[in-house]
Amino acid sequence: MYEVLALVGLSIWLGLPAWIANAVPVILGGGLPIDMGRNFIDGKRVLGDGKTIKGFASGVLFGTVIGAIQSFIAPFLIAEVSHYVLVTPEMLSVLNLTVSISFLQSIGALTGDMIGSFVKRRADIRSGNPAPVLDQLGFIIMALLFSSLLISPARQYTSILIMITLGVHCISNITGYTLGLKDKPW
Ligand code: CTP
Ligand code: MG
Repeated sequence: MYEVLALVGLSIWLGLPAWIANAVPVILGGGLPIDMGRNFIDGKRVLGDGKTIKGFASGVLFGTVIGAIQSFIAPFLIAEVSHYVLVTPEMLSVLNLTVSISFLQSIGALTGDMIGSFVKRRADIRSGNPAPVLDQLGFIIMALLFSSLLISPARQYTSILIMITLGVHCISNITGYTLGLKDKPW
């Protein structure tokens, strides 16, 4: 039982910087778009108005800050967790998240988000309209890919993180819509 809790908990711990980096722009984003309003060679917007410089910068900042907070908490968390489960080296590598890892994750998350928008614009999907799977998973996969320069978490953590991300994304979008932060509930 505790092992399952540790597995799910550590997967969430691993994904926190990417989640924050992806979520903060919804609140702090806006203003000048990253593509400066320009079109691609196909005559459609490169990324669209939904990808802004302020959103990117605030996402990277807050995603990195959450990593700093996590690295501060980690020693206490490790001591606490070790009362309930045997802390394996695999668990330790996830628990000992560093600021550099959270920075890479945040940049990766927002790059994945931009790649998603780039693909959506090419496919004629308007800014804000949904692209199932791409919207939910692009950011987390790129976050894991970027941070794999410094951390290679065991497969079970990344798999569970990806599954939870799918679920949480649905809930957060509906919440954002309900709070009036997003135009559409997806
Ligand atoms: N946002 C931002 N800058 C970013 C990412 C997001 O300002 N780099 C803000 C925008 O206000 C955006 C909102 O967060 O409308 C929601 O983000 P997202 O769902 O990723 O963008 P969409 O508006 O859905 O645009 P797209 O179709 O290109 O994904
Ligand atoms: Mg969207």
